[in-house]
Amino acid sequence: MNVPSIIQGGMGLGISSWRLARAVASQGQLGVVSGTAIDLILSRRLQAGDPGGHVRRALEAFPDPEIADRVRERYWIDGGKDPAVPYAAKPMVGEAPDRGLEELLVVANFVEVWLAKEGHRGSVGINYLHKIQAPMLPSLLGAMLAGVDVVLVGAGIPLEIAGILDRLAAWEPVEFGLHVSGASREHKLRFDPRALFPGDPPELVRPAFFPIVASVTLATMLVKKSRGRIDGLVVEDPTAGGHNAPPRGALKMDDAGEPVYGSRDEVDPSAIAALGLPFWLAGSKASAEGLRQAREVGASGVQVGTLFAFCEESGLRADLKREVVEAALRGEERVFRDPVASPTGFPFQVLSLPGTLSEAEVYDERHRRCDLGYLREAYERDDGSVAWRCPAEAPEDFARRGGCEEDAEGRKCLCNSLMANLGLGQVRKGDGEVRVEPPLLTCGKDLSGIRALASPGNPHYTAAEVLAFLLGEDPARVA
Ligand SMILES: Cc1cc2nc3c(=O)[nH]c(=O)nc-3n(C[C@H](O)[C@H](O)[C@H](O)COP(=O)(O)O)c2cc1C
Repeated sequence: MNVPSIIQGGMGLGISSWRLARAVASQGQLGVVSGTAIDLILSRRLQAGDPGGHVRRALEAFPDPEIADRVRERYWIDGGKDPAVPYAAKPMVGEAPDRGLEELLVVANFVEVWLAKEGHRGSVGINYLHKIQAPMLPSLLGAMLAGVDVVLVGAGIPLEIAGILDRLAAWEPVEFGLHVSGASREHKLRFDPRALFPGDPPELVRPAFFPIVASVTLATMLVKKSRGRIDGLVVEDPTAGGHNAPPRGALKMDDAGEPVYGSRDEVDPSAIAALGLPFWLAGSKASAEGLRQAREVGASGVQVGTLFAFCEESGLRADLKREVVEAALRGEERVFRDPVASPTGFPFQVLSLPGTLSEAEVYDERHRRCDLGYLREAYERDDGSVAWRCPAEAPEDFARRGGCEEDAEGRKCLCNSLMANLGLGQVRKGDGEVRVEPPLLTCGKDLSGIRALASPGNPHYTAAEVLAFLLGEDPARVA
């Protein structure tokens, strides 16, 4: 793989779609798909009829046709489901997924990477959040079956992933330590790839591994202690979109209620460079000047999210894209680093937009529940078994499962709202009404690139224009 100047950041859920990653990779930079909740996204794309037949085309290429057939038969609805009918549930990810869920996870990750790689020779990565542990092992296998070039993992301390990639490439069984709150013993997720492919399995190539870090301490620790090879680092600052690493030391808030970051959170690029690995800087770096400055301090380039999130090929609903671009053109965007919105407890950047969960009245009106479950935390019951709870579920349910009610305050259901961002939001029926889950947008603090690429008369821009803009070329030439 060539060392790219630009990594198009992994943006969950589904914002970094195969279309976006393909558009970037086919231009010679690193296109990244999001692997977060991709099993759910695939199940809903199939229920929506799979317009264009892309998912079914990728299923045809899956190495075990019986597994692919089972997934298609379970979820695909010819012509799409009735919009007033809720999407069928899929099993939630937990400590011991059943065979059907394992198959769905492997297939969904395969499909997303396969489509992103279709028709060009560029490199494609996949992004996972370390905090979402339960689906990780089958997901990695699925992405590797499609020949993923890079695995990028953020939101945690991914010490075990490099070794897992080595073992999966050799078709060996893998284990992944599961974080369980109040655990009296070690808990592990286990996965045997040969159980799914008992015959002669296809050959796998071990992808490169790029952890995403926010401090020199974490980068150094990973490089020293990772159980397997690290091939590069993405260094993200707290202006980046999505989740941010919490500030170091005691948590302080500014007058607006955002966590305050200080000098201890600043990363010295020369200390990262001294680790001897290629690295990319992320967070408000989306300009030719940002790329130049990154290179000047020894980085190979930059990872950019926000500017790609609102381009034509991203998975975001077209009407939401347009609203954000128009707000940015008016200079009216407001991005709040919310310390409590995410059930993970990490600060999460929330973009204010009417009709979305960022607004108090929309939030208050939504009935809290947990029916997708990716951000649940595992906890140990008195009998030593593992159970799951989410601080964004109904506070009484959370308390019943041993959660602290205070910890539930202000939490937002990212699973349901981020699915709504893609036009795949769950439909709820009640009181004679049909409602769709409200969206919730995230993005980074810097939207200036949007103002460079879009105009009131033309709010649309493409991934190729973003790349040209970042490389200091004329975006109009590729428009
Ligand atoms: C909509 C959105 C979703 C994101 N989701 C993820 C994610 O799932 N995993 C991750 O590691 N980073 C995520 N990020 C961070 C990006 O990958 C990237 O590092 C960041 O956006 C770079 O900063 P920028 O937004 O200022 O360009 C997300 C960013 C955005 C804008």
